[in-house]
Amino acid sequence: MLKGRSVLLRPVKRSDISYFLKWFNDPEVVQYVELYMPMTEMSEEKYIEELGTTRAKRDAQFVMEVIEGASTKPIGTCGLHEIDSKDRKAVFGMVIGEKDYWSKGYGTEAARLIVNYGFQQLNLHRISSGAFAFNERSIKLQKKIGFREEGRLREAFFKNGQYHDLVLLGLLREEWRGL
Ligand SMILES: CC(C)(COP(=O)(O)OP(=O)(O)OC[C@H]1O[C@@H](n2cnc3c(N)ncnc32)[C@H](O)[C@@H]1OP(=O)(O)O)[C@@H](O)C(=O)NCCC(=O)NCCS
Repeated sequence: MLKGRSVLLRPVKRSDISYFLKWFNDPEVVQYVELYMPMTEMSEEKYIEELGTTRAKRDAQFVMEVIEGASTKPIGTCGLHEIDSKDRKAVFGMVIGEKDYWSKGYGTEAARLIVNYGFQQLNLHRISSGAFAFNERSIKLQKKIGFREEGRLREAFFKNGQYHDLVLLGLLREEWRGL
């Protein structure tokens, strides 16, 4: 478990399926991610099972909980994916599925926790990520914690009736050290 001042990141449990189904079937949330098919209970059960088996060394996925007094509440998920032990790199992803918790600083705090985990525990050399060009909030968050824009895939994703650029970002271990 990774614990910050107002959020904690804990491993995924089977009983989290209902949260994932709620968050990833909400059009307001899904507009920001590459997912485009309905998320089914069966596919999510399979994914969660894989986190303990075939994906165990490839995906470090967490549920993000906000600390509210003595209790905590799940608000989203984040993780490092495609963990590559040769090149020592991984891909960062984050979704706060509870919309009332957007733009309150929780994402920034959680992203710092996961990036520190990637460099300090997984011994990564590089963390990359991507965001649709219109997702200014996500791009701002990532740049705030040190990610640099590395390019863009022009009109790479079709979403809500039009093509969107994907902005590519990356953070190297040395840059993170200097922060
Ligand atoms: C993107 C996301 C993870 C950000 O987390 P968050 O907790 O909402 O963001 P934070 O409050 O920590 O920080 C967001 C920053 O963007 C700024 N911001 C908020 N809305 C903005 C907007 N519409 N345009 C530009 N900047 C915006 C905030 O002011 C803040 O910057 P500041 O700290 O300098 O003031 C979260 O909003 C989310 O999950 N959204 C839906 C799914 C998604 O977009 N996932 C990312 C896919 S790449």
